[in-house]
This record gives sequence, C-alpha cells and structure tokens, in this order.
Amino acid sequence: MCSIIGFIGNSRAAPVVVESLKKMEYRGYDSVGIATINSGKIMLKKGVGRVVEVNNQLNLMKMPGNIGVGHTRWATHGGVTESNAHPHDGCKKNIVVVHNGIIENFREIKKDLEQHGHIFKSQTDSEVIAHLIESNLVDGKGNIKKALTKTCTKLKGAFAFVVAFEDGSIAGARLDEPLIIGLTNDGYFISSDVLGFLEYTDRAIFLENKDIVIIDKNGMNLFDFNGKKISKQITQVAWELGEIDKGDYAHHTIKEIHEQKKSIEKAMLQDNERVNIFCNTIRSAKNIFFTGSGSSYHAALVAKNLLSRFGKIRSEVIMSSEFQYNLDNIDKDSVIIAISQSGETADVLQSIKIAKEKNAKILSIVNVHTSSLARLSDCYLGINCGPEIGVAATKSFTGQLAIFYMIIDKISDNATRFVDNMKFFQEIFEGIIQLEGEIERIAEVIKDAKDIYILGKSLHYPIALEGSLKIKELAYIHAEGIAAGELKHGPLALIENNTAVIVLNPEDETFNDTLRSTNEIKSRGAYIIGISNKEDIIFDRHIKIPTVNKSFYPIIEVIPIQLLSYYLALKRETNPDYPRNLAKSVTVR
Ligand code: F6R
Repeated sequence: MCSIIGFIGNSRAAPVVVESLKKMEYRGYDSVGIATINSGKIMLKKGVGRVVEVNNQLNLMKMPGNIGVGHTRWATHGGVTESNAHPHDGCKKNIVVVHNGIIENFREIKKDLEQHGHIFKSQTDSEVIAHLIESNLVDGKGNIKKALTKTCTKLKGAFAFVVAFEDGSIAGARLDEPLIIGLTNDGYFISSDVLGFLEYTDRAIFLENKDIVIIDKNGMNLFDFNGKKISKQITQVAWELGEIDKGDYAHHTIKEIHEQKKSIEKAMLQDNERVNIFCNTIRSAKNIFFTGSGSSYHAALVAKNLLSRFGKIRSEVIMSSEFQYNLDNIDKDSVIIAISQSGETADVLQSIKIAKEKNAKILSIVNVHTSSLARLSDCYLGINCGPEIGVAATKSFTGQLAIFYMIIDKISDNATRFVDNMKFFQEIFEGIIQLEGEIERIAEVIKDAKDIYILGKSLHYPIALEGSLKIKELAYIHAEGIAAGELKHGPLALIENNTAVIVLNPEDETFNDTLRSTNEIKSRGAYIIGISNKEDIIFDRHIKIPTVNKSFYPIIEVIPIQLLSYYLALKRETNPDYPRNLAKSVTVR
C-alpha cells in the first residue's frame, strides 16, 4: 500500500519523482524518501510526514542526477520513523530499494544475512531486499539479472520493488503487487500506479506476476523470475490528467462528492456486448457470490437486495477478507461478482484467485480498467468515474450502485428504469448539493459527539453501514450502522441524552417501522437527524431529500452522509483526503 516510483531519463530525476509521489500519495502517506544517482554516487534523503512537508524540510527536489527512486510509506513492519522510511540501502551503499508489499519470510532472511555480517538499520521487512540483492551481486557489482532472479525466488509474500544501482541502471520486479512501466521520449518510469507518470506519458507496460525489468543506458529488458527474456505489449492508458487535480476545491473528497452528478452518467457508458455477457452469466449461474471490501462490500449488499427484489435471483455477499473461509459452495457453476474501485485490493484479488482455482466464473465492477482485477476477470464493467484520489470512497460507491441498477434493469425488463431517469438524477444531485450549507451547520452541532449511530432498514441498512464507515474514517468519530429493528435487541442500551442518531427514513415500505424505532430512541433522549423526503416532527434536524422511485433512495441518501462526514472532518480539523492510518489501495492482506 506504499507507492513506489523509479525514473531514468535525460531530465533531472528528483523533481519528476517528487511530483509523481504527490500523485500517488493516496497509497500511503506516513513518510517519504527519495534517492538519486549522480556521477556514480547515491544520494538518499528521507523523513516522516507528507511529500510536501518532507520536501520543504529536506529540499528533495534539488537532489542531483538523472536516475531516481522514491517512496511514500504506509507502515506495516516497524513504526513511522525516518529509519523505517524508504529507500533502503545495503551495507555497501551501492544500491537503493523502494518496496511495496510484505516480505513474509523477512525474519529468516534477515537472520541469515546478519550471520553473514550484514547490519540492518530499520525494523522493516523491506530492508532485506536491499541486503539480499547486494549479497547476490558478487563483489557488489556482478550480474544484475542474476542477482535479481536469485533475490526474487528467495522472497516469499507479495512485493513490487524498484532498485537503483550506482552504476546507473534501474530495475523492478513484482509478485502480487502492481508495477507498471511508463515509456516517454525522455526515459522510463517504473511505478505502482499509472498516476505516477500519466503527466508525462500515456504509454505503459503492465508487468505481470514474476516479471523483472532492467533498464540501463542500452535500453529496457524484461525477464521472468527464471531469467528468461520476455516481451510485453505497450498499452495506451486513457485517464485525463485534469481529473487528478483538485481544481478550485479545498479537497479531492469534496470535489469527488460534487462530481457524482456526472460520474453516475459516466458509469452508464458501457459496451453493450459486455453488459450482455455480464447479464447472461448472472442469469445462467447456479450460485452467485458477491465479494468486496469496505465501501465496495456495502455496494454489494445493495446489489444483492436489488437482484433478489427485481431479478428474483438469489445471491450471497461474502466480505473479501472472509472469502477464503466460505468456499464450500463455490464450484464451476458459480459466478463471483467482485466489486472494487482500485481493482488492486489484496483481499479481493485473493478471493478471485481461490474462486478461479475452483473454476468459478469471475465478473467484476471496477474503476481502474488496467487493474489486476479487471485483467483477472472473465468480464468486467468499468465504473468510469475517473481517478478517485480522496481515500474515502465516494463517487466510486455511487458509480458501483449505478452499474448495478443498470444490470438489474437488463435482467428484469427495466424494473427500476434507472437509465431512463438519468436526466432527472442530475437535478436531484444538484438539489442535494444545495443542502451543503445546512449539512455543514448540522456538522457543527454534532462535531463533538463521541458516537454517532445510523439507522436504516432493508435497502437503507447497507447505506447505514456505508455512512458509518465514512464518519469513522473522515472524522475519527465512532459510528455504527444499525438495522433499525435490531435496536431493541441490544444497541438501545447505548442511547442517552443527546446521542446523535441519523435516521434513513424516506417513504417506502420501511417508513413506519423505522419511525417506530426512531420514537424509541427519541424517548430516550437521542438527537435525531432525519434523512427523508418527508418532514416529521420527531426529527431534531431534517435533511430533506427529493421524492424518487423507492428503489433509488440508497444512491441518493448516501450523498448527505458523505457531505456530513466531510464537514465533520473539517470541523474536527482532520484531513479528509488522507485519513490517518489508512491508504487508498489496500494491497496487503
Ligand atoms: C472506504 C474505503 C475502503 C475501500 C476498500 C475497498 O471509504 O475507501 O473501505 O472501499 O478498501 O477498496 P476497493 O474498492 O479499491 O477494493
């Protein structure tokens, strides 16, 4: 979940590497480091903090040399300290390594290397890569290809790393973590994400598992872990750069919340053939399992409900981190529908890998078309919402829901008429965005709450879960989504005078039941924020959403909660784009 970048070219590397790291900082942002190579000498600087802060302190951009590697970290092994920040060098200081992933056998490798005299400076698993490559390079020079193949076959776990050598070559290797080469007229990038080089080029080579790339003054060569030469196709990457910029907005998160009125429409831009394959595969499946993590898991819960309600098709939702323990009914007649923004979430990829081994068919709904998930799927549909930089999922979540409405309509003879309502949706979204001022005022009232509960029934329950996740990660307030009818079975004990409770209660078949539960908490002193199309005297604050087709409420009512979470973050002075301890792309299990 760290970002790694390497650059070799005719321009100075440091400014390019620093800019690339800023674009990929969503992947991890507790510390930063870069190393450059200038006239056969390695220069290395690193520190704790965000890219801008560390650059200001250490003048990273000023470092000389046309070869560089850089890293932003999301700590897994070892605290957030300067010595644990990457790049790591070995004892001879003639190579530097940046790594993303987890080396599972690092303890035994470290012990072995220490017995051979290597001295380690960090508590990270990553440092072993530098020492191992060093020890595999005879006399510190030797054959780079041989040293890399030997190193890669020794490492267990998941990794992508970039290594720069003082002789002026640069190399990368991957196993179960993404690594992409960007080709420019000026040189080469090796990066965790296309965002690392999209500003310079849209020509990319996506490395596969067990691929190695070595680039030196003679050009680029690709090998597998056995040292066999391989070749790869160059892909044209399509995202527009403007979308990475937050423009006039204070944060990516609020920009992305606002973008939803357009991004939902973009989710509808699908290739008909693919949609037909998707729907036919669902229709002919014996068993259907949705899987996803976090917000994508919540989207799957909505999808299951819609599929049952309108498609009359039974399915199950299994959280990706639990998937491996629920394999009993997965076989060749099963269809797995994986939902993911990044398409790189390790839990999701692991689930898919296991399902494939059981010969299940894999469908996916994914934002990053070039991701591992898209490439592993039998058929995928793109969410098409453009890069989502804010760590909390917003526009990708509503994009996932939109695609599912479209699929349900295909399967069920246009039961919800979602696509037909597209123009109407834009007005509705515009209307909800107009409520921003009122939502900000509500955030002011509840900003010091210790706990916030969100109640909803049926289709609203997944949104209660999603809303509570948004509040937790953006505002660092304990929040819990509760199926309204479950209150009396326990959670009611938590309600006291002024406990903040958000109630999802638009007019549908759940309306009266949820109102009854709301009465129960109101009479115990709760402060009620109602999200509904219908005013009720029980609400202390009312966020009035428009009246729509009953099945559309989930995709609408989530937006006020996204806005509320954002304003709670601002009031509590947390950074909504980069919540502490989190990373956008969770590529570790
Ligand atoms: C929540 C959030 C995370 C992700 C989860 C899955 O706001 O962003 O919970 O939803 O890590 O990520 P993807 O969808 O990329 O698989």
